[in-house]
Amino acid sequence: MEQYAIKGGTPLVGEVEIGGAKNAALAILAASIMTDETVLIENVPDVRDTNVLLQAMESIGAIVTRVDRHTVKINGSQINSLTIEDDFIKKIRASYYLLGALLGKYKKAEVSLPGGCNIGSRPIDQHIKGFKMLGAKVKIEYGLIATEAEKLVGSHIYMDVVTVGATINVMMAASLADGMTIIENAAKEPHVVDLANFLNSMGANIKGAGTDVIRIKGVEKLHKTEYAIIPDQIEAGTFMMAAAVTRGDVTIKNVIPKHLESISAKLLEIGCEVEESDDAVRVVSAKQLVHTQVKTLPYPGFPTDMQPQIAVVLALSEGTSIVTESIFENRFKYVDELTRMGANIKVEGNTAIITGVNKYTGASLTAPDLRAGAALVIAGLAAEGYTTVDDIKYIERGYEDFHVKLQNLGAQIEKVTTEKDFKKFQLQAV
Ligand code: EPZ
Repeated sequence: MEQYAIKGGTPLVGEVEIGGAKNAALAILAASIMTDETVLIENVPDVRDTNVLLQAMESIGAIVTRVDRHTVKINGSQINSLTIEDDFIKKIRASYYLLGALLGKYKKAEVSLPGGCNIGSRPIDQHIKGFKMLGAKVKIEYGLIATEAEKLVGSHIYMDVVTVGATINVMMAASLADGMTIIENAAKEPHVVDLANFLNSMGANIKGAGTDVIRIKGVEKLHKTEYAIIPDQIEAGTFMMAAAVTRGDVTIKNVIPKHLESISAKLLEIGCEVEESDDAVRVVSAKQLVHTQVKTLPYPGFPTDMQPQIAVVLALSEGTSIVTESIFENRFKYVDELTRMGANIKVEGNTAIITGVNKYTGASLTAPDLRAGAALVIAGLAAEGYTTVDDIKYIERGYEDFHVKLQNLGAQIEKVTTEKDFKKFQLQAV
């Protein structure tokens, strides 16, 4: 089984290029089938989630042409099925974005219920509420969500919770509804804004994305477009934390600094230097870092997808830090693994009380989910000795060439598949 082998202790130094945002790409790829014309999308990250979604789209008849590793052409005119197979949903939840896209375009869609993920129960009641308020019937039976509508009519929808997925799904369906839809208490994440900009480039009429209130005036149809996806704020934040925890000096390029404000603010609070330029941030971590408090919130608050990564940094920072996870109910699974490296963390409900220690020591670890897996890798980079991280398929869902980008920053990390490879790595690592 593939794993990362890491020899810790080397400060990360140099430059790293950030790829396209996975969570924007998933929404935009799904939305691209809402026209019968050809759509060209650039800066698509080459990660497992986007590749599985493209396979799901091909499985219903979309024509997907790879122009290069990060550019794809999609044509949705030949779609011949409105049912997304279960195994695609099992592989990635975000296949349910095809619900909103297919319902908007064909007024009908069927997708198997996405399972809970290991970060929480992941309900979809707000997605269903939105579809129903647009006039669709929604049935849940035999593990499937089946939705259809004579026609979709604009509605005034108040989201009970701030939800990225439901905001995205409803925005897609409403783009081709009759009349005005208003989404109140909408999610404001950069990927919600990116989707709105993408749909508008196809002829949609969406205003207010990035604020609490999004207004969508339905249009008859959508047309072709060429679009480039925004940089991934979470990949960028992960490398910022890697620089911080290894006492490094890393320039993270091809970012939108505004999207990283809450992350930069926390790094400054704990003693890092953070320099911003137009499309890059530089993180210098030269001295002993100190404790702080973090509470995950919807954007522009501190992202829940950065919670494991900052906990890794705080567990090596002087003093006691408090991390509160207010979005998901089960996002501390990495704590047991970090404890095996010497961390001193106590989880009480949705709060982690972190008492900084002087060092991590290497251990054999298992990635519990995507972001926790990435966090364990950066813990290994800071640890004394050797660390292995198993189940890296989770990490490869959302990080393109993760270990290669880290190697280019000086990290001693390899992807190994056998004990023999690991022994060879140990001999080679200085
Ligand atoms: C998206 O998940 C992201 N995934 C997640 O990133 C991210 O953690 C999350 O947004 C929050 O930013 C993608 O974009 C593919 P939500 P999503 O709906 O849409 C509750 C990663 O690591 N809720 O914003 O599923 C829900 O339980 C992944 O890239 C309802 O109650 O998240 C949660 O507490 C992990 N009812 C809160 O809202 C609903 O109908 C936020 O969930 C929907 C959600």
